[in-house]
Amino acid sequence: CGIVGYLGDKEAMPILLDGLKRLEYRGYDSAGMAVMGGHGLEIRRSVGKLKELESQLAKAPLRGSVGIGHTRWATHGRPTENNAHPHQVGHIAVVHNGIIENYLELKRKLIEEGHTFTSETDTEIISHLIYKYSSRGATFGEAVRLALQQVRGSYAIVVINEREPRTLIGTRKESPMILGLGNGENFLASDVPAILSHTRRMVFLEDNDIVVMSDDGIQIQDLEGNAIDRPVTNITWSPAMAEKAGYKHFMLKEIFEQPRALIDTFRHRVDPHGGEIILEEFHLNPDEVKRLKKITMVACGTSFHAALVGKFMLESLCRLPVEVDLGSEFRYRDPFVDSQTLLISISQSGETADTLAGLREAKTKGARSLAICNAVGSSIARESESVFYTHAGPEIGVASTKAFTTQLVSLYLIGLYLAKQLGYRQPDQIQQNLQALFKLPTLLQDVLDENRAIREIGQKYMKANNFLYLGRGIHYPIALEGALKLKEISYIHAEGYPAGEMKHGPIALIDEHLPVVVLATRSPVFEKMMSNIEEVIARRGRVIAVSESDNDTVREKVETTIPVPETSLELSPILLVLPLQLLAYHIADLRGTDVDQPRNLAKSVTVE
Ligand code: G6P
Repeated sequence: CGIVGYLGDKEAMPILLDGLKRLEYRGYDSAGMAVMGGHGLEIRRSVGKLKELESQLAKAPLRGSVGIGHTRWATHGRPTENNAHPHQVGHIAVVHNGIIENYLELKRKLIEEGHTFTSETDTEIISHLIYKYSSRGATFGEAVRLALQQVRGSYAIVVINEREPRTLIGTRKESPMILGLGNGENFLASDVPAILSHTRRMVFLEDNDIVVMSDDGIQIQDLEGNAIDRPVTNITWSPAMAEKAGYKHFMLKEIFEQPRALIDTFRHRVDPHGGEIILEEFHLNPDEVKRLKKITMVACGTSFHAALVGKFMLESLCRLPVEVDLGSEFRYRDPFVDSQTLLISISQSGETADTLAGLREAKTKGARSLAICNAVGSSIARESESVFYTHAGPEIGVASTKAFTTQLVSLYLIGLYLAKQLGYRQPDQIQQNLQALFKLPTLLQDVLDENRAIREIGQKYMKANNFLYLGRGIHYPIALEGALKLKEISYIHAEGYPAGEMKHGPIALIDEHLPVVVLATRSPVFEKMMSNIEEVIARRGRVIAVSESDNDTVREKVETTIPVPETSLELSPILLVLPLQLLAYHIADLRGTDVDQPRNLAKSVTVE
């Protein structure tokens, strides 16, 4: 999750340690360091917080002025010392952020060629590949390039080589890497804050740039080894701004990370050509899937809203009854589950006490279990039979955003996968569904481009004391989520409601002071939604509609419209929640609340 590399004339160890500490806020579960010194390449690694590594280093310091450091947030393989970076193979050691998609295939080949693996990580593949080419006589640079030609996926990598002790090579693809330029010393880092106390002169590397750093200076090359020029940027951010990549709050940064996060969730699970979904993590065989009688989902908070959307997705895709419950309710109601039930627990942290208790309760009744989690190696992940990791990356803002949308993508993939096994989807339909999914990140970006306009809308409504959010069908849980976001961070009272139920209660609240956010995109229930909009307007409520930009029917009726692009009905919740996240964010920020740490709330609730 965090990378720092150093080559210069000072002791590397304290510089690397300091850099890693400055990335601590991002979360991690193990750490490690490799330094090239008098005794060659030496490595220290440890599980847990940096102070564990620090106390190891205090007992056995690393001396030398070239080194790489890493904090790991587990993706492939549990948080253990063996899985911590750097990964050394012979004279090569590597630190890596990102995901290697074809790692199983590469691992198989390397094992056939006689390589032995000591970790469960995808990173170790890279070390083996570079070692292999380097041992066969390739130069350091060639060996890295040959290895990169084999791997598919996203990465930021720094490599150290005992046979060229004063050279570091760094490269990236779809994962950030920065080059820091100092006097007589240079740095590589995954994030600006790691090296900001040493230099403000930085180069933001682009995909497939390869940096070769040595005492002779720095060269940036392309994949063929040709030298390329990249501009040097003078960073003016304060350290606090740098942590958030220039965004005012983590929440806003995480909202903007969603197109990327979505890609990280689905890309290594779909074959881009054949339309196959590959869920190696799912441990039910096709016969067991056919024996399932129902799916029960258990979650809390925002994850519960993901489960509610999941009910619509899975029931329509798999034609299986789906029941959704809150962890705190499920655990005490003697739920009806048995060995023909698939219990899906959804949790960003994987530590929510009520969800965990729900999972345990279902397991004692014999249910099969699948967890959708963001935190690798968490309790819910460990105790579930199958685990589907969302790969959203660490989420720091207390109000969940990117974890939610990646949970929805996960449910979509699981739904398609089960539908195929149950015979409800043919390969060509799956292919179509996946094509729609592949387009989604760009559409999300279109919504994010409305950020400024949404802030102005926030300005217009920020003084309201209450908000109502309305949706129907698969958009109803998004109304709940929009209301939850607003109340969590702005402390404005907000309610989410299925629009058809408005007449049985919330309609009494409507007057000229009440903003009503309506999810009104074209869907089978669009006309019903229009009637609800009329009902609100007739009582002088102020309608903010989320709708397609060319949907004149809506635009001509309402006070305010937030435009969204078109996508399929099943994927539309992922798109529609974005403007609601941004609206809540801006209203809270304009009201001056503590957006990332709202009062009374915790990121992870590990008590009942
Ligand atoms: C807390 C957080 C929410 C989160 C909920 C469930 O209330 O503040 O943002 O949705 O817990 O957390 P989980 O980690 O299980 O998804």
